[in-house]
Amino acid sequence: MKIKKAVIPAAGLGTRVLPASKSIPKEMLPIVDKPAIQYIVEEAVRSGIEDILIITNRGKSAIEDHFDRSPELEERLLASGKQKIYDEVVAISKLANIHYIRQKETKGLGHAVYCAKAFVGDDPFVVLYGDDVIIGDVPATKELCDAYEEFGLGVAGVKYVPSEQIGKYCSLATKEIRKGIFAVSDMIEKPSLDQIISNYAILGRVVLPPEIFSILENTPIGAGGEIQLTDAMKVLAKTKGMIGVEYSGTRYDMGNKLGILKAIVETGLKHKEVGDDFRKYLLETAANLK
Ligand code: UTP
Repeated sequence: MKIKKAVIPAAGLGTRVLPASKSIPKEMLPIVDKPAIQYIVEEAVRSGIEDILIITNRGKSAIEDHFDRSPELEERLLASGKQKIYDEVVAISKLANIHYIRQKETKGLGHAVYCAKAFVGDDPFVVLYGDDVIIGDVPATKELCDAYEEFGLGVAGVKYVPSEQIGKYCSLATKEIRKGIFAVSDMIEKPSLDQIISNYAILGRVVLPPEIFSILENTPIGAGGEIQLTDAMKVLAKTKGMIGVEYSGTRYDMGNKLGILKAIVETGLKHKEVGDDFRKYLLETAANLK
């Protein structure tokens, strides 16, 4: 079955990127000239997704404005002959059918995904974490959806994470099926060093069957006082099994300051308009570094 629906949770408080995220949603922070969430929507669209639900909350209206038409701006661009940027601006509003719902209290990623229950109905769907931008030739969402079609099980996008960092994420019990594809039978959120099951963690993308909603209804409050999506996926992994896909793109964590800097530098170097000048500037700057 082809996956056509996506959910992008973007209702977090973004405390790790304050003060930038005080009045600007962290999902709207730009990587050179495009907000993070636009990269994520474009990845979904390139993967065959047609309907996207963005989970927002208070103070996130900039996200809705970004994917809407902007008549005054468009008129001005046309009148001044800026056809290319006009086309680009209008195209953003036509990317996909984008829907919105508010998570009324910030109770965690599991709770945010639960807000998508009515939108999802009885279909499998992909969750793209709103602050994880993945850049690569093949979209990560497509790699996960392909695995869902092959195995008919929930799919987690995974990456190898060194032991000293995995405590920020989750640790998965994995058995390799073939290169980059794993059977996942268990997981633990924010493991301490002695709880690490493997160095594979879920980073930014999952495909879930609709059964996840009945599991989330019974998921107690977990790590950090929040309803954790990982706790619900753990039930799925232990009962039905899940698949892990080591996606090929590079993941940038736009929820922390170093992640934002890496995304900007690496994307800036490849940027058509400013890439060459930026490379010169970086080389000069690096030569003077001590
Ligand atoms: P994070 O774990 O990065 O949480 O959420 P956060 O609250 O935004 O960040 P910090 O820790 O305070 O800096 C991962 C994704 O899930 C969304 C976030 O918007 C982010 O895209 N999220 C998180 C929700 O939609 N609702 C929540 O209650 C929590």
